[in-house]
Amino acid sequence: MSSNQIQQQDSEHCFHPFSNYHQLNRDGSRVIERGEGIFVYDAHGQKILDAMAGLWCVNLGYSADALIEAATAQMKQLPYYNLFFQSTHAPAAKLAQKLSEITPEHLNHVFFTGSGSECNDTVIRTVRHYWSCLGKPSKQVIISRENAYHGSTMAGASLGGMKPMHAQGGLPIPGVVHIPQPYYFGEGQGQDPQQFGLERARLLEQKILELGEDKVAAFIAEPVQGAGGVIIPPESYWPEIQRICDKYEILLVADEVICGFGRTGQWFASQTYNIKPDLMCLAKGITSGYVPLGAVMMSDRVAQVLRDYDDEFTHGFTYSGHPVACAVALATIEQMQQTQLIDYVHDELAPYLAEGWQQLSEHPLVGEARIKGMMGALELVADKTTLQRYDKKLAAGTLCRNICVNNGLIMRAVGDTMIIAPPLIMSKAEVDQLITLAKKCLDQTYTELQHQIG
Ligand SMILES: Cc1ncc(COP(=O)(O)O)c(C=O)c1O
Repeated sequence: MSSNQIQQQDSEHCFHPFSNYHQLNRDGSRVIERGEGIFVYDAHGQKILDAMAGLWCVNLGYSADALIEAATAQMKQLPYYNLFFQSTHAPAAKLAQKLSEITPEHLNHVFFTGSGSECNDTVIRTVRHYWSCLGKPSKQVIISRENAYHGSTMAGASLGGMKPMHAQGGLPIPGVVHIPQPYYFGEGQGQDPQQFGLERARLLEQKILELGEDKVAAFIAEPVQGAGGVIIPPESYWPEIQRICDKYEILLVADEVICGFGRTGQWFASQTYNIKPDLMCLAKGITSGYVPLGAVMMSDRVAQVLRDYDDEFTHGFTYSGHPVACAVALATIEQMQQTQLIDYVHDELAPYLAEGWQQLSEHPLVGEARIKGMMGALELVADKTTLQRYDKKLAAGTLCRNICVNNGLIMRAVGDTMIIAPPLIMSKAEVDQLITLAKKCLDQTYTELQHQIG
């Protein structure tokens, strides 16, 4: 089939996630044909360095044969069975055990889902059920943050703090409230960063006191906000959040759908930030994106309460613990362990990428270059001294994103913040390639913006 035919079938029949359909039909979709290593190839044969690892998930790149072999073998053995009605199978049981081993010590129990969004639906069901089991059914409210992303189901989008998502469909659902985010570049300039981090964390305490401790079930957050623009909190933020959750007995939920599986330079960001979540959401990198799978890790404390409840927890999905997905996850973890990938990322790759990324902060278009592990952001500004943004009408971020893809680089734009989260298996030479391409694209974007301003 020609790429034109694919585009035509696509535009006539396929609704895309997070897309402006008017624009999509006018411009047509880019047809991605194949992947190899850290590159994807479109239908015109253009080679594109995928600095977003798909959607923050293809951590092992596009050529991990062991994952394909694991899926094939499992498909032949048992392509599907569920975990309902007292059934189980080896891939789910083995993966549950493996996840208990690699996640922080107190997280030894798992509820499987099909995606990150379903993890967060599971979080709401679980924390409310937990408090109800403990005789505190009034503890219902979940506190989240503005500009957080927790998925696109009704619960996920409600927990998320994206205003355009709330605007469609009357969200958030009742019982979810949001506090401001620890976005220093966007909202803290002029203050001491650590003081800003503390102040933002203490807004949690303020919200708990305002709502009443007896009403609050949990606080949920991404250790580093991903889709919001790779927002890396000041070091003072997480210890204060942990202190507040402990003080008021509020369950702490770490949404590690992006941050987990090495993205921040350790297996999990909860280790990077030294926090002890009661629940931890995993997806994406758990299978390197090859097949859909999500997992909610539960602490011993939470699991014990659920186990002591002598009736059904009326929650679950057809694909909870899908055997093929679990087999691929096991192969993913095995490959990461065998190749000592986390050590490579932590000791070599991430520091090397950070060095290159920081050099981009010297570019006239860049107000800040920040990076944590293998996730980075560039803030595009019109004036490097005042950090003033370009006029929104110029859509500098979108312009830069389009220039990137035309030059064979996928960087994502969140407003005028350019972000990356490349595969963890890249070589240092590929990092050099990424930085060189990014610089070239920034140059072209800058020239184009200067031209438009006149
Ligand atoms: C932190 C976080 N949580 C949840 C989700 C939702 O995951 P999914 O798209 O698999 O439902 C995402 C997706 O990007 C995410 O970044």
